[in-house]
Amino acid sequence: MFDHLTPLPEDPILGLMAAYRKDPREQKIDLGVGVYQDDQGRTPVMQAVHDAEARLYETEESKTYQGIVGDHDYNRHTIELLLGADHSAVSDGRVCTLQTPGGSGGLRIAAEVIRRANPDAKLWVGVPTWPNHIPLLGSAGFQIEEYPYYDTSAHRIQFDVMLDTLQQVPAGDIVLLHGCCHNPTGADLSREQWQKVTDLAQERGFIPFIDIAYQGLGDGLDEDAYGLRLMAANLPEVVIASSCSKNFGLYRERTGSTTIITRTAQQAPIVTSQAMTVARQTYSMPPAHGALLVSMILGNDELKTVWKNELTEVRERLQHMRKLLTKRIQDNAAGKDFSHILTNKGMFSYLGVSADQLQRLRDDFGIYIVGSTRINLAGINTGNIDYLAESILKVLD
Ligand code: LMR
Repeated sequence: MFDHLTPLPEDPILGLMAAYRKDPREQKIDLGVGVYQDDQGRTPVMQAVHDAEARLYETEESKTYQGIVGDHDYNRHTIELLLGADHSAVSDGRVCTLQTPGGSGGLRIAAEVIRRANPDAKLWVGVPTWPNHIPLLGSAGFQIEEYPYYDTSAHRIQFDVMLDTLQQVPAGDIVLLHGCCHNPTGADLSREQWQKVTDLAQERGFIPFIDIAYQGLGDGLDEDAYGLRLMAANLPEVVIASSCSKNFGLYRERTGSTTIITRTAQQAPIVTSQAMTVARQTYSMPPAHGALLVSMILGNDELKTVWKNELTEVRERLQHMRKLLTKRIQDNAAGKDFSHILTNKGMFSYLGVSADQLQRLRDDFGIYIVGSTRINLAGINTGNIDYLAESILKVLD
C-alpha cells in the first residue's frame, strides 16, 4: 500500500529545531522555532502554571470526557482575554468559542466552518506569513490568494500596496491577519492602519480571520488586542484563532481556541454546532490539561497576578534583547541598517542577511535561523550575545 509514497521535505521550522538538537557544538545558538527562552537559554514552566498544576493535582477528581467545546470556563476567559471584559459582541450574544488543540487546531476548525458556510470564499494571505498557514489552511480546501505585506529590502510594511490589493477583495472572501507580533517579521499594523483595514472590510464586505498567537508579548495584553477588538466592534463577522502556547508557555499542552463573532445572536449557537461537528469529525474532543490550567489562572486573582508579572518579564526581556542585538551590530555593520529590529514587536524580526550568509551562520558558527532570516529574539542571552554579534559581523564582512 505504501510502495508509491515518497518522503516529503521537513517542516522549515520544526526540521530546523531537530537539526539544532543534533548539533554537538557547544556554542550553538537556536534562533529558530518560536519558543521563549530565558537568559539561561531555558524554556521554563511559568510559575503560575506550576502553581495551577499543583492545585489541579490536589483537586482534579476525574479524567472523564470533557465534551467537544472543551472547558466552559476556559472558553469564557478566552473571550475576555481576546475581546476585553465588556465588549458589545459579547453582551449581544454574538460570540462563540471552542477550545481547540493549540492555535493550529483553532485555525483549522475555523477554516472548516468557513468552508461549510461559504465554499466559494477565497483566503487572502499576507506575504510573508507563518510558513504553516498556507499548508494548514490550504489543505482545508481554500483557494489561496496573496496580498503584499512586508517589504524585505526596506524592512517595513508596504501598507499602500497592501491596501490597494485588499481593495480588490470581493465581498465574502476571507482576509487572514496577524493580531499582533507578526510572525515572521515582527512588523505590526499601527492603530491607524488597523482602522483603515477595518474601514475597507466594512466597505468591501470581506471577513477578517485573525490569528493571535502572541498576545501579551508585544506591548501588553490589551494593547496587543487593539486591532482585533476594533474589528470586532465594527464588523458584523470576525473569525479568530488564538493560542496559549506562548503567553502561558503551554506549547506541548496544545491549548488554543476558535472564536467566531456572528452577525446575529441567533447565528451563534448554529455556528457553534457546526464547529462542534467539525471537531467531532476530526479529533473528537480537545485535550483538557492546558485549558484547565489557563482557566484556573485566569479565574484566580493571585495566580493571575503572578502570570501577568511573568508575562511582563517575558515581554521586557524580548525588548531588551532587541536593544542589545541592534546596539552590538548596528555600529559595526557598515552600510547596513538593523534599526527595524528595535521597533518590531514580539519574538521575531528578519535579520535581513543573504541566503549564503545565513548558511555560513549555521555551518561555520552553529547559529540556527529560519530560511526567511527570521530570528527569535528569545534565543539571545547575555551569555551568547558577544559570540552572536561577532559571528553576524564576520559573515557580513
Ligand atoms: C513558530 O513559528 O516557530 C512557532 O509558531 C512554532 C511552529 O509551530 O511553527
